[in-house]
Amino acid sequence: MAEIAFLLNGTPVRLREALPTRTLLDWLREERGLTGTKEGCNEGDCGACTVMVTDAEGVRALNACILFLPQLHGRAVRTVEGIAGPDGALHPVQQAMVDHHGSQCGFCTPGFVVSMAVGHLNGRRDHDDVLAGNLCRCTGYAPIIRAAEAAAEAPVPEWMEADRRALAKFLLAEISSGDRGQTAPGAFRPTTSDDLADWYVQNPTATLIAGATDVGLWVTKELRSLAPVAFLNGIADLKHIERRGEVVAIGAGVTIEALRVAMAGMHSDFAELLRRYASVQVRNAATIGGNIANGSPIGDAPPALIALGATLHLRRGDAMRSLPLEDFFLDYRKQDRQPGEFVAAVTIPDAAPALRCYKLSKRFDQDISAVCGCFNVTIADGVVTAARIAFGGMAGIPKRAAAVEAALVGKAWTLATVNAALPAFAQDFAPMTDMRASADYRARTAANMLLRYFHDLAGAPVRVLPVDAIEVQP
Ligand SMILES: Cc1cc2nc3c(=O)[nH]c(=O)nc-3n(C[C@H](O)[C@H](O)[C@H](O)COP(=O)(O)OP(=O)(O)OC[C@H]3O[C@@H](n4cnc5c(N)ncnc54)[C@H](O)[C@@H]3O)c2cc1C
Ligand code: FES
Ligand code: FES
Repeated sequence: MAEIAFLLNGTPVRLREALPTRTLLDWLREERGLTGTKEGCNEGDCGACTVMVTDAEGVRALNACILFLPQLHGRAVRTVEGIAGPDGALHPVQQAMVDHHGSQCGFCTPGFVVSMAVGHLNGRRDHDDVLAGNLCRCTGYAPIIRAAEAAAEAPVPEWMEADRRALAKFLLAEISSGDRGQTAPGAFRPTTSDDLADWYVQNPTATLIAGATDVGLWVTKELRSLAPVAFLNGIADLKHIERRGEVVAIGAGVTIEALRVAMAGMHSDFAELLRRYASVQVRNAATIGGNIANGSPIGDAPPALIALGATLHLRRGDAMRSLPLEDFFLDYRKQDRQPGEFVAAVTIPDAAPALRCYKLSKRFDQDISAVCGCFNVTIADGVVTAARIAFGGMAGIPKRAAAVEAALVGKAWTLATVNAALPAFAQDFAPMTDMRASADYRARTAANMLLRYFHDLAGAPVRVLPVDAIEVQP
């Protein structure tokens, strides 16, 4: 049986008998006595359990409460205990938290410090985004942001680079040991999609675990036992983002954060939508394959991808098949996926200048959509020649607004046309009432989003966050 091997605060760790769905948080606190990493929500929401994880793809903040031990194989983990220097010298972000009074009860502080140290190492200056996944209930965010700003110019301490160097040596040893495949009873850790395809056909009832930002909660909240399981995060050939002519292929294993960065120069509104997807810790783990495969009616990526005209690519054994993404979602939590079949990739066009994405949620950051509307209307000589409009939160599946689209196509792109199309929303959707929004609110919001889209394309300032100073004449 292969081991799970990783670096913990610079020291190699090898685990043989680890339960595949043991979380890093539980293991750190219960087996290692590293209690600086806190348990707040145990579901990825609060960031109290944030750890720093280094691998070939970079240095990232992740939530230890929804990170299973096999996901760490071949990586380096640094907890808050490893953020100060070996001689006890404070990291610049720690010193800044002291200087700027960034801590009161201190429960959230280790998580903030780790997120800040990762942001500092990566040269991030967008502190609001970097810290959006860390909640503080007593200090207030202003002193914490001031601390992050104050530390930003300090050089990265030498010891913070140690993981990258140590990992290179460690990985060489691991690779030469030929360690791959089976992890612990009932767990498989493939390194290629061919290996996954072969194994999944043999184990069609298995649970696939990609980023574990859904599956993690099945364990921590629903106390489910999952076996057999396959961990997808070591499969390099599912992590590609490749331009092929006018099409971009995105592997199922691409994280939401990697996708956000890639989309910034291509589909900027999609990238902005992904900035509001959970928090940096969740985006660093969650994958596009998981966001599609889970079939959630309120997943953020599917409406944008459907509006883009995405094609989904599925694989079972050696057989590949492709279908329009909207056809994958059949009914609430029911997808067109056969036993032993997995999401391999999704392809999208490389240009869609009219794509706009609007996410409505109760909080700006770290919140699931009540309604997510994505619009992509093609206009030629003032006439609508094609329309792709898709919503999350309006039905049991991510769904196109077919009647609204039909009411627009062939008409002049005017406010009158848009107003005339609004009643068609009632044909497309009968939304539900739940804790996020009432049915009536959802229906009105969806219609208002189409109006907003019209004004957005016309260049009107429709963004709700920026507060533009208005010069008032005396
Ligand atoms: C705190 C928090 C905030 C969140 N906020 C948002 C948000 O704002 N917007 C949003 O859309 N989602 C949000 N989510 C939900 C979650 O992040 C997404 O659903 C995520 O994309 C799932 O991806 P994953 O890689 O973590 O999937 P996993 O949890 O690993 O898997 C999810 C499901 O997909 C299956 N699966 C995974 N990969 C494949 C594959 N390649 N082929 C077939 N099946 C596969 C798994 O078996 C499982 O059924 C949030 C989650 C948390 C914990
Ligand atoms: S304990 Fe809250 S995010 Fe992990
Ligand atoms: S200092 Fe108490 S929760 Fe942040």
